[in-house]
Amino acid sequence: MTAVNGTNSVKVRGLTRAFGDKTVLDGLDITIREGEFVALLGQSGCGKSTLLRILAGLDSETEGEVDVPERRSVAFQSPRLMPWLRVWHNVVLGLPRGDRALAERYLAEVGIEEYAGAWPRTLSGGQSQRVSLARALVHEPELLLLDEPFGALDALTRGKAQRLVADLWQRHRCSILLVTHDVEEALLLADRVLVMDGGRIAYEARVGLDRPRDLGSPDFVALRGELLRRLGVDDASALSHHREEVTA
Ligand SMILES: Nc1ncnc2c1ncn2[C@@H]1O[C@H](COP(=O)(O)OP(=O)(O)O)[C@@H](O)[C@H]1O
Ligand SMILES: [Mg+2]
Repeated sequence: MTAVNGTNSVKVRGLTRAFGDKTVLDGLDITIREGEFVALLGQSGCGKSTLLRILAGLDSETEGEVDVPERRSVAFQSPRLMPWLRVWHNVVLGLPRGDRALAERYLAEVGIEEYAGAWPRTLSGGQSQRVSLARALVHEPELLLLDEPFGALDALTRGKAQRLVADLWQRHRCSILLVTHDVEEALLLADRVLVMDGGRIAYEARVGLDRPRDLGSPDFVALRGELLRRLGVDDASALSHHREEVTA
């Protein structure tokens, strides 16, 4: 993998990944511009996490061209904090010279600096996810990869976490690739929404709506309907049922 020049943050061409005789990514192309916020939707098992892991540099058994920035970070649905390290220590764990003051700066950014000295097990799910975001941001990534980071949170906490990510994106101006099952979340946050199917990007929609976005606006509703159709889901009630299944 090499660093990207120009205005593209991510450029992937003909990416193929198979597990045994099962081809999960099949000649996939994707481009993300510097500072662009892209959401990735797709049925469970279609290969979203496989793609993210490859972009994060966690899987290299691939064919095809993958250009990503050197400085990139990833946050997963499960915060994966080390239980034997205090919160601040978890934040700077990946840095050669990370100290508590630096960790506290990033914990403040995600609104939980008062938990710097706490043990991970004492945090709620939403707080743990904030620590996970701080741990990703401490690297000042040019590309932030988020794999269903809000999937396990209750609706209220999820809404707050979504607004936080929108704020962090505005402030850091990094590119973001957000994997989500939630069409509304994708449309609330992203500049562009991609639908993955058959190992490729099967559909893409540009979201030209002003922020903050209004879930009730006719354009929002029309885009949501189109994306649900592309996902093979006929109505919103079917989707929320699907969502419960996949996050349970
Ligand atoms: N390490 C692995 N070994 C074998 N199969 C895998 C591995 N990782 C993912 N897969 C398979 O690849 C497919 C896509 O998985 P994944 O990328 O996790 O889907 P998604 O994130 O879209 O739900 C699934 O069928 C999954 O079982
Ligand atoms: Mg996944």
